[in-house]
Amino acid sequence: MATIDVSDRSIYERTIGIEHDPLELPRRHLDERGREIAPDLIALMGDTPLVALDRLSSDVPPTLVAKLEMLNPGGSVKDRIGISMIEAAEAAGELRPGGTIVEPTSGNTGVGLAIVAARKGYRCQFVVPDKVSQDKISLLRAYGAEVIVCPTAVEPEDPRSYYSVSDELASRPNAFKPNQYFNQTNPQTHVFSTGPELWRQTAGQIDAFVLGVGTGGTATGVGRYLKERKPDVTIVGADPEGSLYSGDQARPYLVEGIGEDFWPETFDPSIVDVWEQVSDAESFAMARRTAREEGLLVGGSCGTALVAARRYAATQPADATIVVLLPDSGRGYLSKFYDDTWLAEHGFVEHTSGAGTVGDILSAKGEQLPPLVHLHPDETVAAAISLLKEYGVSQMPVFRDGVHDGARAEDVIGSVRENALLDAALRDGELMSRPIVEVLQPPLPVVATDEEIDQVLGELSAGAPAVVAQHDGRAIGVLTRADVLTFLAGGAS
Ligand SMILES: Cc1ncc(COP(=O)(O)O)c(C=O)c1O
Repeated sequence: MATIDVSDRSIYERTIGIEHDPLELPRRHLDERGREIAPDLIALMGDTPLVALDRLSSDVPPTLVAKLEMLNPGGSVKDRIGISMIEAAEAAGELRPGGTIVEPTSGNTGVGLAIVAARKGYRCQFVVPDKVSQDKISLLRAYGAEVIVCPTAVEPEDPRSYYSVSDELASRPNAFKPNQYFNQTNPQTHVFSTGPELWRQTAGQIDAFVLGVGTGGTATGVGRYLKERKPDVTIVGADPEGSLYSGDQARPYLVEGIGEDFWPETFDPSIVDVWEQVSDAESFAMARRTAREEGLLVGGSCGTALVAARRYAATQPADATIVVLLPDSGRGYLSKFYDDTWLAEHGFVEHTSGAGTVGDILSAKGEQLPPLVHLHPDETVAAAISLLKEYGVSQMPVFRDGVHDGARAEDVIGSVRENALLDAALRDGELMSRPIVEVLQPPLPVVATDEEIDQVLGELSAGAPAVVAQHDGRAIGVLTRADVLTFLAGGAS
């Protein structure tokens, strides 16, 4: 990047509007006949509106305002850096006609780059790990980009790995890797576009700006601009629990696009004045609430930023104006946290309270429910396997000898589990003729029929493969994850 003068304002003209200074006027595109027709989609990137969040701020003193970045043509804040990273590379001669843009990305930056590549006739190659959802791959391909899916189960040095493939593609002639985590055009874009827009739109009346930090480009650029204008403005970083930025120990989390386990070149941490740590559960619940109360369908990282904004707002006076950046829309997450089943599968169970009881799930299974199928300790592994197969189940309780129907908790001495049998079979060729007492697993957790579904989900997300339902102290059925999810899906429709 050394050859690019990132502070050369002319690079950013397309992002900040050709005819108007962003400090003076909202962008209008007039064609040569005086009509309001934009020359192309790229010209419509940036200049996103602000909207007051009156419902979400009814219980906090300040005015809470959202910057709607999902209204960019590619659906996210990343449109802004897609165009400027490409035009900066063109200006520096790093990207020439017929060139190829190579970036390891599966997300919003890919879309921003793909739109510009489509308009300007560049080839786009995105390298993604194989855990990326098919929807994201399809979205990038829809814009004409090539998507190369790399196995995650290989070492980084392996020639098939994500890193090796993107390095190899980027080293080919006339290939350009924007590299959003290193490219200083990224933060600088926000110094020239997002920062001045916010200043103009709020007429300088902005006391705090709240946002999630991914590459840090938005925070660094907007923060630098706003602090130049108003040194006492507060930049609040909204960070997922499990991200390094706010001082947590790096560990996996589910919110996408923000937080990191390393410090990118594009982030100046001194720009953030206050960090707020937000859990996945809080982020997803807030995103869903925003859709229902404000009519704004927002992504998961918007939920994170909104939780942080509300928490910070609760400490501020009534005349304060707090602006929160909403980077993308909820459309990309309909099969994730907007889906009740996905939420339940990932252990986010609050929404199921009041959904029903253990007894309700059992009744919903209805006539499929045989008297509780069980095994006894002396039966052979072969017999256990044939019973598991006959009932299409993966685990079964084991009752004390002589106990059949109406087992009490103390009569359930353990369980047989398909995966444990498989492991044992690999080690022991004689396993089939052995009694199951030799491969006995601990009993399944017991829940009473009048307990809430939350109770079952709690046991399942703590690792139990199934639970035994008990009525009047007697075991009457086994409930699996599939039983609970089928019930919730049916209950929700
Ligand atoms: C959904 C979402 N939110 C927030 C961000 C953070 O923006 P930045 O990379 O400028 O810090 C990103 C970046 O990828 C994102 O995709």
